[in-house]
Amino acid sequence: MRGGGVMLPPGAQSIIEPAGSGAAQIAVLFWWMVAGALLVWLGVVVLAFIATREPRPDDARRARRLIIGGGAVLPTLVLAALLVYALPLMPVLRAPATVPLKIAVTGEQWWWRVRYLPPDGAPIELANELRLPRGERIELVLDSADVIHSLWVPSIGGKVDMIPGRTTRLVLEPTVTGRFRGQCAEFCGSSHALMAFFVEVMEPSAFDDWLRAQAAQAAAPQTPLARRGAQLFLQKGCGACHRVRGTAADGRFGPDLTHLGSRLSLAAGVLPNTPQALAQWMAHPGAIKPDVRMPPFDMLVDHERAAIAAYLHALQ
Ligand code: CUA
Repeated sequence: MRGGGVMLPPGAQSIIEPAGSGAAQIAVLFWWMVAGALLVWLGVVVLAFIATREPRPDDARRARRLIIGGGAVLPTLVLAALLVYALPLMPVLRAPATVPLKIAVTGEQWWWRVRYLPPDGAPIELANELRLPRGERIELVLDSADVIHSLWVPSIGGKVDMIPGRTTRLVLEPTVTGRFRGQCAEFCGSSHALMAFFVEVMEPSAFDDWLRAQAAQAAAPQTPLARRGAQLFLQKGCGACHRVRGTAADGRFGPDLTHLGSRLSLAAGVLPNTPQALAQWMAHPGAIKPDVRMPPFDMLVDHERAAIAAYLHALQ
């Protein structure tokens, strides 16, 4: 039922292959911590080895020195050094944005409501993906509609919780173009593991073109099948939850579908964006994502679901 999932190149979700300035700093901190842990481990192994090779008579003073030195002084020094190194990183990770455009992301069980907020214009809503201009620092404004979620794109930056009733912030600065995977990093219910998303880092000019296209209203259906799908979409009540800008469908509960065909995945990083996967999702969403809020549309016949899928897939 999973529909094969979405394939990605290696490194697309990796803290040790950073593609953003925040992730790069975190990676350096990570390697220092690995080095520290390795040193401690080596020390313990050496001590254990000496203990087995050189039996000595009991010496209380020597034992006390070892316990205080190795058990209190050394960990205090190592942890203090790591703290001194890590604390100054925080303001750098929250450096001010370089573009006035902000992105509001709301965590919902189990998907991401994404709104691009241009400084001079209406918000542009999409879902389950971020597109970012390479080389710019862009501010994400995070909140939650239900429980605590956490937004994390390991390749690009740090992890920030999304807390109901509170606004948190994250600044991302991608340095490499490409596609990366993000994941909800806070257990948020039965389908927490199926709450993913994709990030496409683009050259700034391509990003501007993409955002302009996303701001436009939905394209009118062009084929007879898609036209039939558009009718069914409204008749069967899909518009009560979903919005397709420029049509009578104006629901706000579920994801905005105005440009669904252009999305990088379906169902928050779970299914490839194909008409077949879309039809499968409509029929049995709960089999793909347990406890999902979307009801199954298994009362429709196959060709009706295929028509709706053709309509939505054409919304580029
Ligand atoms: Cu949302 Cu875990």
